[in-house]
Amino acid sequence: MIDRLALTNFKAFQHADLPLGPLTLLTGLNSSGKSSVLQALALLHQTYTAGNLDRAGELAQARAAGRPAPAHDNGFLLNGELVRLGTGMDALHEDFAGDEPEITLAVSEGAWRYSWTVRYEAEQNLLPLIGVGLPLTSESSAARPAGEAAVIPRYFTAGFQYLLADRISPAESYPRDHQVAIGRGFLGVRGEHTVNFLRHHHQARVEVPKGPLRHPRAESALLLDQAAAWMGELCPGVDIRAETIENTDSVRLSYGFGDGLTTSRRRRPTNVGFGLTYVLPIVVACLTARPGSLVLLENPEAHLHPQGQTRMARLAAASAAQGAQLIVESHSDHVLNGVRLAVKQGLLAPHQAVLHYFRGDGTGVDVISPRIDRDGLLDQWPEGFFDELENTLEKLLD
Ligand SMILES: Nc1ncnc2c1ncn2[C@@H]1O[C@H](COP(=O)(O)OP(=O)(O)OP(=O)(O)O)[C@@H](O)[C@H]1O
Ligand SMILES: [Mg+2]
Repeated sequence: MIDRLALTNFKAFQHADLPLGPLTLLTGLNSSGKSSVLQALALLHQTYTAGNLDRAGELAQARAAGRPAPAHDNGFLLNGELVRLGTGMDALHEDFAGDEPEITLAVSEGAWRYSWTVRYEAEQNLLPLIGVGLPLTSESSAARPAGEAAVIPRYFTAGFQYLLADRISPAESYPRDHQVAIGRGFLGVRGEHTVNFLRHHHQARVEVPKGPLRHPRAESALLLDQAAAWMGELCPGVDIRAETIENTDSVRLSYGFGDGLTTSRRRRPTNVGFGLTYVLPIVVACLTARPGSLVLLENPEAHLHPQGQTRMARLAAASAAQGAQLIVESHSDHVLNGVRLAVKQGLLAPHQAVLHYFRGDGTGVDVISPRIDRDGLLDQWPEGFFDELENTLEKLLD
């Protein structure tokens, strides 16, 4: 699990050092830097996956030995499958700290800290790597569990999902891409591969492991039945089916409604509520996140009614309780309350749910981190932190 993320001169942040937990909730005003935190983790992941951090170890060894840095095209890949940040000018914090315009991103996993520093190039979208801090000593390599490379964080190679606020809208059909959905198990940043992923995993009879993630009232432990049961929590009485459309590169999703005895005709996504299809990738990402994997979610509450939002937070908490790490950006007090309830009900220990409230004033970002106790109560309510209901009620009752 990543337990800290440090950002220096990255977008809205001159410097930020954020503790992360199994379930971290990022809240705060619009444009206060929440998505930028997710983007930093996605940027590192896409850079590694594209092979642009491959030779970071060589750079670290050369530095340690006092040799000149080897020339290669390692560096932050600003535009890729996960994020499209633009050029160096977009990525570097406007008012950068330090003598040189450099961006540093660092992640800690337990005792291991990894950092990468790149040089600013205004017009480039590959910012060259000029410094790395990797746990490279033989002593640290030996301490790493057998079979694991010490030079990269585990999250680069474990399961990974990143779902943007702007997801796919309901459609007649969805892409059937074997390589992304099945080979890599990636749902797509807009959740566009979710239906194909579900179809494949249903055929392969993949089950949701025992534990809080497994819905007790689902027809079976199979992923599709589990997804249907959790979708039913968000929208009572719904069931889902994912099928191939013969002789095409597409798959189809359909919904049924009923109480199990009196099921209505099946309906296309375009003829049911928008929120249902919109939340499906979130449900599938939570249900399939296995221990060690990382799930980044932007505004999972979008288009869900309040009760659904609270229950969705419970699903996210169940996923974290079963060993995955989730970092969730949200504007919803129902999501916050769902997390608080999950702690009060013992699904998560208080320290496993981490809250950050971002306050950006245009010049920098200030982060306040209220703590949840075992009764689900918070130790502080900073001004502007989900206090709008009380503020409005006060005016109404005045
Ligand atoms: N290079 C940069 N230098 C300084 N600030 C930047 C830079 N690039 C972006 N920003 C600022 O970073 C912020 C980006 O915010 P971000 O998208 O992370 O917000 P958010 O908290 O996710 O908002 P929302 O709630 O609307 O999703 C904006 O305030 C933007 O002005
Ligand atoms: Mg955002």
